[in-house]
Amino acid sequence: MCGIIGYVGHRPCEEILVAGLEHLEYRGYDSAGVAMLIPGGVEKVRAIGNLAKLREALEAERGALGFEEQPDIDGDYTGIAHTRWATHGRVTEANAHPHSDESGEVQIAMNGIVENHTDLRHELEAEGCRFSSETDAEVIAHLISRHFDGDLTEAVRLAYGELRGHYSFVAMHTKAPGILAGARKETPLIVGIGEDENYIASAIPAFMAHTRSVLTIDNGEIVEVTAEAVKLSDAEGKPIERAPETVTWDEEAAEKGGYDTFMLKEIHEQPEAIAETILDRLSHDDGVDLSDMGLSDDYLRKIKRIVIVACGTSYHAGLIGRYAIERWARIPVEMDIASEYRYRNPVVGPDDLVIGLTQSGETADTLAAMRLARDGGATVLAVTNIMGSQATRDADAVLYTRAGLEIGVAATKTYVAQVAAMYLMALRLAELREKLSVERIRVLVAGLRDIPEMMERTIDTVSDEVEAIAKRHANDSFFLFLGRHIGLPVCLEGALKLKEVSYIPTDAYAAGEMKHGPIALLDESTPVICVATDSPILDKMLSNIEEVKARGAMTIAVGTEGSDRVTRVADETILIPKTDWLLQPILAIVPLQLLAYHVARFNGLNVDQPRNLAKTVTVE
Ligand code: AGP
Repeated sequence: MCGIIGYVGHRPCEEILVAGLEHLEYRGYDSAGVAMLIPGGVEKVRAIGNLAKLREALEAERGALGFEEQPDIDGDYTGIAHTRWATHGRVTEANAHPHSDESGEVQIAMNGIVENHTDLRHELEAEGCRFSSETDAEVIAHLISRHFDGDLTEAVRLAYGELRGHYSFVAMHTKAPGILAGARKETPLIVGIGEDENYIASAIPAFMAHTRSVLTIDNGEIVEVTAEAVKLSDAEGKPIERAPETVTWDEEAAEKGGYDTFMLKEIHEQPEAIAETILDRLSHDDGVDLSDMGLSDDYLRKIKRIVIVACGTSYHAGLIGRYAIERWARIPVEMDIASEYRYRNPVVGPDDLVIGLTQSGETADTLAAMRLARDGGATVLAVTNIMGSQATRDADAVLYTRAGLEIGVAATKTYVAQVAAMYLMALRLAELREKLSVERIRVLVAGLRDIPEMMERTIDTVSDEVEAIAKRHANDSFFLFLGRHIGLPVCLEGALKLKEVSYIPTDAYAAGEMKHGPIALLDESTPVICVATDSPILDKMLSNIEEVKARGAMTIAVGTEGSDRVTRVADETILIPKTDWLLQPILAIVPLQLLAYHVARFNGLNVDQPRNLAKTVTVE
């Protein structure tokens, strides 16, 4: 996730742009940059690190250019700025946005992923284009330069037609002063309407200090912004009329994107978090590209055993990874809680790949387990969300999730991004070791590619129903979660979510274990949450639900759309979209996240900072 802001209007815009970025730092902050039109060309300053570094660089640039502040220009001030969360290319100044064509006349800032950037880069280089960065975004600047014949918006439209992926971008051109043009495909982009000035950004907080009048840009739309007007059109150039809206958020609500809490905002960011994590790694020849991970194909073909060490929610993501890797790649996977692994003197050696799954990259127990494994001769892979975290420095290789910064203490979007990363790993291993047919891999890759849209649909369709269920059960004193096979990790995570934000005791059990004791817990007052999505043993799970009902407990099931058997058996059923049964868990967690959220909210609790919890557990 990166942050974009653009300005065009009657005021010098450097501070407007940099201050706007400061409201977008939650989207990414490993480097940043700003480009503004000045007499005779462009002033562009980029810096590695957070925005304080960009400010230092701008001051130095001012001094170097011999002027104290942004120079006056004829006409409207025009500028774009960007804060980066690296996906393609290292964290370097050259890779920081804005990017340009060779002439420097075109400047662009992008958020998201251009999936076909490699092909486009080869095509452009064959035409003589020289690239100055390792990024996918730079191809956009060269494409716009290629198409520009005086009309920036048309050049953007033509470039948009050549791009595939999940992105939004804003462009400016020295020969089109006073104009910004942009395009949106999946990732957010929105316009702020001012007085003789207009803004365009990834999120409203970037410009809300200046205006609350906003104009949404939908998928597939091209936008032209001048100080006087905002024009929307579709990819074919057909004008689109849309009225601006007024946001009534206060400052705090703005930081939460209009949601009541960061947790809810981040649940709604899950489709983007998954898309950012997977889409450019699902190459269009229907394979999986993990070349950025740092483990060779030869090594991946030879692995004899995988050990996954993690804590809390990350442990639950690892459990799903175990099912996927063992099922698809047929590699034995051992899964352990890091705080247990580190003290049980495990047998580990050079034939092992040990995966440290940690969104923060700083969890003490997980780091210790990773170091123990490395000392034992294993190869260690960190799967983490934070660039430069300790886990990335302790590991031999790194697979980044790209969920953006997660503010809520309860992990949501980082969890689904971890699960997505585990699916990628399992598919890549299966592909390299030829454990699945080409056709089966194609089907699974297609299924994974559809998950962001399915996640969006899941959130939209289950939210009201789950809120109503939460309201009915907000005062219950205990919740039992039951699941089997691939549904069990979902239960474990759902139970953790509910207990950590609502403080209500919960337990999660393998449904097959009920008869071995836990069934004694049940009576008419017990709500039992059953994960009963498609799986090879759904029938067994349905029998377990019957057993639970026979004790009078209230059963609330999460099932797969079209699975009437679940609806017939459970007292209440929340249905999620149908996809491959092994991909279902990434969707099935959504109702349980929302259940935890709403139960806690009905009890007036602070879901973003639950008592006794820290976002990162850097101590044992
Ligand atoms: C998740 O909701 C919890 N906040 C917690 O269990 C967390 O998952 C655990 O501390 C591991 O954190 P990590 O992924 O940063 O290592």
